[in-house]
Amino acid sequence: MLPQWIIEKKRDGQALSVDEIRSFFEGYGSGAIPDYQAAAMAMAIYFRGMTFDEIAALTDVMMKSGDLLDTSRLKQPTVDKHSTGGIGDKVSLILAPLVACRGVAVPMISGRGLGITGGTLDKIESIPGYRTDLQPDEFLRVIEACGCSIIGQTARLAPVDKKLYALRDVTATVPSIPLITASIMSKKLAENTQALVLDVKWGSGAFMKTLDEARNLARTMVEVGDRMGRRMAAVLTDMNQPLGRTVGNAVEVEESIRALRGEGAQDLMEVTLVLGALMLVLTGRAESEAAARRELEGALRSGEALARFRRMVELHGGDPRVVDDPRRLPAAATALPVPAPAAGVIEAADADGIGRACAILGAGRARVEDRVDHAVGLRDLRKVGERVGKGDPLAVVLARNEADARRAAERIVASVRIGDGQGIVDRPLIVERVLGKG
Ligand code: URA
Repeated sequence: MLPQWIIEKKRDGQALSVDEIRSFFEGYGSGAIPDYQAAAMAMAIYFRGMTFDEIAALTDVMMKSGDLLDTSRLKQPTVDKHSTGGIGDKVSLILAPLVACRGVAVPMISGRGLGITGGTLDKIESIPGYRTDLQPDEFLRVIEACGCSIIGQTARLAPVDKKLYALRDVTATVPSIPLITASIMSKKLAENTQALVLDVKWGSGAFMKTLDEARNLARTMVEVGDRMGRRMAAVLTDMNQPLGRTVGNAVEVEESIRALRGEGAQDLMEVTLVLGALMLVLTGRAESEAAARRELEGALRSGEALARFRRMVELHGGDPRVVDDPRRLPAAATALPVPAPAAGVIEAADADGIGRACAILGAGRARVEDRVDHAVGLRDLRKVGERVGKGDPLAVVLARNEADARRAAERIVASVRIGDGQGIVDRPLIVERVLGKG
């Protein structure tokens, strides 16, 4: 079948067969099908959508276009977590060592930040010496030694997704649930874990701006994971204000270390413990979420989770002394408190606006090839519901220079609404769980 006939079929709203999907996207991967035909196909999928069977087939082709991790030598049940991305989301840094304390193995392949959303890889690379480019054998050795490892994507991880994502980015076809699902799941399923927990965020600082879109994405990803034989769960979480009290890279590592000491912000710990509990239940390491949560809290209290994190850093060539002395992390030249323009209650702290303030500072990247500045960001961010006096700091901006700090501070003031508290929109942090069949 000619590629244009397959495009035509999708353009006219028909479902493609597994063979058609395979021949088209394998052809794209090999170069036999050019970008212009793949772009037309992406646009047809954007408008016409795909059935679950089609999405599962596309996920499978993209996953198998690269290497699959051979996890068979790991003795413990394997599990990972993926977040669709947000502002101040440092959960992976806490979660991987924490759940590893309860006898699961976590091979976590993470991404970099893009736009205003941060990436775990950029955060962890702010630890001096930490290597994220481990080859599969070394990756597995680190997991055998400490139960978890956080590394970056190699060129051999789902290369067809990489090629297609770059094309979608410049053809306005990124926001398509079938394409997003196949993109995310092809990379996560290539890790070959038995279970996968998804944190699908909704809100101003998330990819999915509405709860309905996030729910649809969560259900689609869980369904595809189910079909591909993984134990799946997703949690819908609120991303209308940043998670925790820091946004940036090194500063988020520092907050994660405090969280591993048991001193984490309430919202950050809630999301971490809910996801962690699901990871233990799905892998059969706990009978219920309540029991799992108690065990995870115990691992935080005993210092075991922090010790695992330190060990992971050491095994990656990073400086483990950052755990006891965060001054060893990159530090910004300027720290500027942002005074509250009025007294009152914080009614909103818009995640999108605060993410943009951090982008001004250089904490994120506009293009894939940009470098992030690990030292800049925000700390001591005030949360919705907290009372401030006029002139009290809303946050402390960490910047390269005074001019950047002032520009970011203006953005923060514009993103925070202070009132009498009546204007707070009461939104649950954890909206709902979507459980797979396994
Ligand atoms: N993240 C991905 O990896 N792929 C998408 O399509 C969107 C977000």
